[in-house]
Amino acid sequence: MSAKSVTRKNRFLAACAGEQVDTIPIWLMRQAGRYLPEYQATRRRAGDFLTLCTTPELAVEVTLQPVHRLGVDAAILFSDILLPLRAMGMPLTFTDEGPRLTPLADEAAIDALRVLTPDVLPEVLETIRILRRELQDVVPLIGFAGAPFTLLTYAIEGQTGKSFVRSKKLLYSSPELAHRLLGKLTDSLIAHLTGQAKAGAQALQLFDSWVGILSAEDYAVFGAPYVEKVLTALRPLGVPLIYFPLGGLALLPQVGKLSADVISVDWRQPLSMAQHMLASTQGLQGNLEPLLLLGPLAQLEQRVQQVLLDAPRRRYIFNLGHGLTPEIPPAHVEALVEMVHRLGQTTTQP
Ligand code: CP3
Repeated sequence: MSAKSVTRKNRFLAACAGEQVDTIPIWLMRQAGRYLPEYQATRRRAGDFLTLCTTPELAVEVTLQPVHRLGVDAAILFSDILLPLRAMGMPLTFTDEGPRLTPLADEAAIDALRVLTPDVLPEVLETIRILRRELQDVVPLIGFAGAPFTLLTYAIEGQTGKSFVRSKKLLYSSPELAHRLLGKLTDSLIAHLTGQAKAGAQALQLFDSWVGILSAEDYAVFGAPYVEKVLTALRPLGVPLIYFPLGGLALLPQVGKLSADVISVDWRQPLSMAQHMLASTQGLQGNLEPLLLLGPLAQLEQRVQQVLLDAPRRRYIFNLGHGLTPEIPPAHVEALVEMVHRLGQTTTQP
C-alpha cells in the first residue's frame, strides 16, 4: 500500500503490518474513561460500571466518545479484563476503591472455575458487532483481554494487589496448582479473544499489567509460556496481536522471543532501548508518560517530539506508557492527538 492511500481509516492496521503510513497512528489506553465529561454522563445513566460494560448500547456509546472527540486512529472495545473471571464463576463488584472478587481460597475453588467457550459474554460480542457497523468508515476496532498471570493475581488477591503475597505464596508453595489455574485462565482467554475476533475485533491487545512483579526467572515459568500459548492459538485468526508487559523492563529479552506482532512499551525507558532487547520483526507501541498531560502543552510537545524521534520508522504506533487517568484535562488529550499527527508526518518520510 502506498502512503498516499493510507488515511485515518487504515493507518493503525497499516502500521501494525509494517507498511508505510502517511503519519504516525495514535490511540490511547483508557481513551474512554472518567477524564471525559461525556463518559461520566453515560456512566451515571448506567448506574454502575458493570452495567456499563454489559449493556451494548451504552458500551458502544462510550467506546465511540473518544473516537469522535479526539480523532484517534483506533477504537478500543469498552469492557474490562475482569469480565472473564466473572464468567468463570467469580462474583465481581467495582467499588470506589477498585474491583473486588472473592479470592480463590483453595484447590477446590480453582477446580470449580468454568473454562470459557468463545460464545460466552454475549453482550461483549454484541457490542463488537454494533461497533463494527458504526465504525466501518471511521477506524478499526481493537479487542483485548488481561494476560494469564495478571488475571491470576486478581483471582488470588481478590483485588488489585499491593504486596502480592498471596499470589507469590501460590507460585512458590503450590506451583502445580498455580499451573493448573494458569492453564484454565489461558484456555478461557483464548476462547474469549477468539470470540472477539470472530465478532469483528480487528486487532487484539493482551494487558499484562502486573507481570512486573515477577523476576525474569519466574516469568520464564509462570508468565511467558502462557502468553505464548495464547498468541499461538490466536495466530490463525489473522489479526495483529499486541502485548503490553507493564513494568516488564527486566523481562524484555524474553518478550522479544514471543510471537506478538507489536509490543506496547511503558514510559520507563526510551523506545530505542526497548527495541534493542526485542526482535527486529516486532513493532513498537508507546510510550509517553501519561501524567505529562497534566503539564504545559509546550513541554508536552517537546516530549512527544522526543518519543517520535526515538521511535522506529516502521511498525510503530503512538500510545501512552499506561492509561489516561481521571485528572487529565480532555483539551490536553485533544492537543496530543493533533501533535502526533502533525509531527508524525516528518518521521514517516522514507
Ligand atoms: O478505553 C479503554 O482503554 C477501554 C476500556 C478498558 C477499561 N479497563 C475500562 C475501565 C480497558 C482496556 C481496561 C483494562 C483493564 N482493567 C486493566 C489493564 C490495563 C491497566 O490499567 O493496567 C486492568 C488492570 C483493569 C482492572 C480494573 N478495571 C481496575 C483495577 C479498575 C479500577 C481502577 C480504575 O482505574 O478505576 C477498573 C475500572 C475501569 N475499567 C474503569 C474504566 C473506564 C473506571 C471505572 C469507572 O468508571 O468507575
